Amino acid sequence: MSKVEKDTPIEGHDADGIREFDNDLPRWWLYGFYITIVWSVFYLVNWHVLAEPMVGHKDQYAELQAEEQEWAPIVAKNASRGPSASEASTDPAVLARGKEVFQGNDQLCATCHRDDLGGMVGPNLTDELWIHGCSVSDIMKSIVSGFQEKGMLPYGSGNKMSDKDVLAVASYIISMKGSNPPDAKPPEEGRDVPCGENQSPTAAHHHEQHD
Ligand code: HEC
Repeated sequence: MSKVEKDTPIEGHDADGIREFDNDLPRWWLYGFYITIVWSVFYLVNWHVLAEPMVGHKDQYAELQAEEQEWAPIVAKNASRGPSASEASTDPAVLARGKEVFQGNDQLCATCHRDDLGGMVGPNLTDELWIHGCSVSDIMKSIVSGFQEKGMLPYGSGNKMSDKDVLAVASYIISMKGSNPPDAKPPEEGRDVPCGENQSPTAAHHHEQHD
């Protein structure tokens, strides 16, 4: 390997006398690089893909998993802790914004709950019966977390909304209470309960289990 032959400067790559050459990378560097790639694949599979690591302290791993399980409910609780408000807005501008979002194509609320909130895929949002609670904060939580197993993504469509818009939509829904749209979706027996009886999601879960 003759160094002199290889050290041909690249034309035009000259910055104040500092020239660039088109030499091969040093072997030792290249192999070091390959080793890190192989290592990263091995590391990923060992710790994040396999149910139990091939290499490493298995006890420690089990301990970590136990700890993760212990924390899971707390993490889930925090994750579902979205925006909240003590009172719905009655400001016409806010309600108009809520209606606009509800009927718009970004969140798709109306495609499942209907333009008049009478319900279709999703429940009627104008009656006194609620599955997940009727306070403005309950409704905001329903919007933010969605009910994926029932088809409602977080924020309806999965497109994130600002906290302000979440409050606007929740306020709009509350403003439509008692509007009594024609052919509204009938309540779901056993799960839809009078406003105020199911403030917490656990209450709704109990109902589900009895069904
Ligand atoms: C793909 C259909 C779909 C879309 C889109 C959708 N929802 Fe829903 N929504 C549902 C279904 C289904 C439920 C009932 C969940 C259940 O049975 O637990 C629901 C429940 C709710 C609830 C709780 C009702 C209750 O009785 O407690 C609220 C509030 C709500 N949706 C508001 C919205 C808003 C606001 C949007 C838009 C940001 C939206 N939804 C978009 C299908 C949808």
